[in-house]
Amino acid sequence: MGKRYYIKTFGCQMNFNDSERIRGILRTLGYEPAERWEDADLILLNTCTIREKPDQKVLSHLGEYKKIKERNPFALIAVSGCLAQRAGWELVQKAPVIDIMFSSFNIHQLPDLINQAQAGYKAIAILDQPPEDEDRLWNFPTERDNPYCAYVTVMKGCDKNCTYCVVPVTRGRERSRSLESILEEVRRLVDDGVREIHLLGQNVTAWGRDLEGGQSFAKLLYRIAEIEGVERIRFTTGHPLDLTDEVIKAMADIPQVCNALHLPFQAGSDRILSLMERGYTKEFYLERIHRLREAVPDVALSTDVIVGFPGETDEDFEHTLDVVAIVRFEQIFSFKFSPRPGTPASEMENQVPDEVKTRRMSELLALQKSIMSDIAKSYEGTEQEVLIEEMRDTDTLIGRTTTNRWVSVRGDERLLGKIVKVKVRGSSPFNMEGEVVEVVK
Ligand code: 5AD
Ligand code: SF4
Repeated sequence: MGKRYYIKTFGCQMNFNDSERIRGILRTLGYEPAERWEDADLILLNTCTIREKPDQKVLSHLGEYKKIKERNPFALIAVSGCLAQRAGWELVQKAPVIDIMFSSFNIHQLPDLINQAQAGYKAIAILDQPPEDEDRLWNFPTERDNPYCAYVTVMKGCDKNCTYCVVPVTRGRERSRSLESILEEVRRLVDDGVREIHLLGQNVTAWGRDLEGGQSFAKLLYRIAEIEGVERIRFTTGHPLDLTDEVIKAMADIPQVCNALHLPFQAGSDRILSLMERGYTKEFYLERIHRLREAVPDVALSTDVIVGFPGETDEDFEHTLDVVAIVRFEQIFSFKFSPRPGTPASEMENQVPDEVKTRRMSELLALQKSIMSDIAKSYEGTEQEVLIEEMRDTDTLIGRTTTNRWVSVRGDERLLGKIVKVKVRGSSPFNMEGEVVEVVK
């Protein structure tokens, strides 16, 4: 029997897409997926280190996975991704069971690393900088579970220096993928039956700045929309400073761009925003949202918020609540500030005690809960365009609105991959159901 792999992925959508690419590489090496880690010849943990919790989870998983060596002495254990990049050899010392380690800089070297490890060496390749031949990664196809919606990484790294964030360390500085390489992948995906393209980058709206020939993210959107078969376009994550009028105009002009935007604001207080070095004020953020809503009136907004950044007072936190109340996001991802090694904020004075973070977090969640239930109600009775993605039951399917809400409808597998018009009957914050009134395409 051929070799089998098992991948466990932590973290963001970019990491998820890296895992899809890793699966593609493993396929070219003749590996097949295993359902359970116990049956694998290669176990890979693709890690995240954005906050402390994911770090701890990786160590506990390694503790479990090392039992594989008792069953299969030739089995290999690999760790990739952001924790690998940040912790390097320190991690191998803590968990000597690791055979292979690499980061998002050198995923394309995986075939060589597997060879080295099979020859009995520890294959630890953690680089300070992305290597020159990093773009070889794009030559490998991704392997995806969702046939209709695909992630496409268009840039890596981040040039902002938010004082809490470990990403510039783990993913390096901004590198845009070339326009041709992106368009080629999108064409391939569409030929494969994909209808929704989800562009990814730590700071996706900054795409093109480091490329020649006056490229910009807005221009990229237009080029992707020209490709026949691209029915929907999403992108994550934008930075408020890069949400230019040009990008807003493209969102309004291009029918395929979904009515949804994830735009982290992180904190409402100007003092905290400045300690975070986010480069904007509360007023600037609200002005961008206002401009966007003028151009795309029913755009659904989501955001990230950090609670309890060093020095945050109750008064500062009021400004965060204020932004939430004004903007009325469909969804908020809120995180307690977590000091990351090597970041300026981890050494700042006036760290906020955990009980205060917990209290503020529950205030934020209570406010958001009431906003979400109002928003959910406002969908009732409306008609929404939905891309049907999955069978849930023999007679029920689920899909997403362009505003990124899941809806369940009755029907059979003929609806899979179709864009349909749905009349919404019931809607609560995390559930929505309706009936198909028309198959659009
Ligand atoms: N502590 C808490 N949350 C963080 N994030 C990033 N770094 C930290 C940190 N040190 C959050 C931000 C970011 C999201 C992906 O994770 O809100 O947008
Ligand atoms: Fe985690 Fe950030 Fe790395 Fe994504 S880029 S995996 S969120 S540390």
